[in-house]
Amino acid sequence: MASGTPLFLGLLSGTSLDAVDAALARFETGRTELVAARAHPIPETLRGELRALAEGTEQELERLARADRALGELLAEAALALLEEARLAPEAVAAIGSHGQTVRHLPGQASVQIGDPAVLAERTGIPVVADFRRRDLAAGGQGAPLAPAFHAACLRAPGRARAVLNLGGIANLTVLPADPRAPVAGFDIGPGNTLLDAWARRHLGRPWDEGGRWAAAGQVHPGLLERLLADPYFSQPPPKSTGPEHFGMPWLERALKGLEPGLAPQDVQATLCELTAVTAAAAVERHAPAAEEVLVCGGGAANAELMRRLAARLPGRRVAPTDVAGLPAPWVEALLFAWLAREALAGRAVDLRAVTGARRPVILGTLHPGRCGFPTPLA
Ligand SMILES: Nc1ncnc2c1ncn2[C@@H]1O[C@H](COP(=O)(O)OP(=O)(O)O)[C@@H](O)[C@H]1O
Ligand SMILES: [Mg+2]
Repeated sequence: MASGTPLFLGLLSGTSLDAVDAALARFETGRTELVAARAHPIPETLRGELRALAEGTEQELERLARADRALGELLAEAALALLEEARLAPEAVAAIGSHGQTVRHLPGQASVQIGDPAVLAERTGIPVVADFRRRDLAAGGQGAPLAPAFHAACLRAPGRARAVLNLGGIANLTVLPADPRAPVAGFDIGPGNTLLDAWARRHLGRPWDEGGRWAAAGQVHPGLLERLLADPYFSQPPPKSTGPEHFGMPWLERALKGLEPGLAPQDVQATLCELTAVTAAAAVERHAPAAEEVLVCGGGAANAELMRRLAARLPGRRVAPTDVAGLPAPWVEALLFAWLAREALAGRAVDLRAVTGARRPVILGTLHPGRCGFPTPLA
């Protein structure tokens, strides 16, 4: 790939709050090159503050304003650390695409991301494209998920139907039809890792169940699974998006109420793992019946027990990480925001009509000048 091709840096912290993901990439027709990537740690105090804001708390406005600035600083640290690792100067980067952290997602009404882009642009000197969800909402969309547009650009295989499953805190599906002219569909399926993590935090005191080993030692509780699956969200037709506001611990606790009090915690974990696998497999069966391949990305791809359960529920289809198609599973979402920055600089509208329900394709993101002002638009 030509080294003259501009570099873009994608930054985000997903609902799992596991780390700030930073990825540096070059994009050319039909090829994405991941140049460098870094999982930048989130200090415990800031993580606690972000979680409190996401769950709802006292003095929200003031704490939100402070966390916005603090996360802006952390995002800048992550970007600069990545550039140092890659031995590149900030001037080498055309723009940063920064998603920030979602602290509230009210489907179709509002979606709030923080991580001050002005701080990020000021510290790095690099132009920043941020606030990607707002324009989609303004155009009548849900504001989420955005990933299907990138999956369509980078993971489509003409003549072969594929599905892409992003297993983050929330799981989302992208349907890539074999016909390259057919529109790309996608939606949020429901909980990915969010409940698995919350339950592991409560009972193991760890951020997640490594490899899904604790879940693998438990037994699925059919009564609990049935209660969880009864949520009408799962059968609601797309466009639809969701978040931990809906699929959080209170949702799980309501389902647990009245079940035998001695229900073993690892049986609950096994049931939550099965819930993610069953709802994801059902989404593929219903919305991507022609897909021969199900490509998985996001942190859930590293959960062996979840992957095993998923493959068991999708017989006859190849279930594999996106790595097999050239995109390393842990970095797909950071690459999405690098790519969205490139699309914004090129002035290209992103077509999410069949995903978010937006009325028309729109240019996503707001542009914040770098040290040398606004960047020149890309050809
Ligand atoms: N080795 C692992 N074993 C089990 N789960 C893992 C592992 N690595 C990552 N995960 C899961 O992936 C999550 C992070 O996934 P990610 O795609 O970053 O989600 P988000 O976009 O919500 O931040 C972790 O919180 C954890 O649930
Ligand atoms: Mg993450």
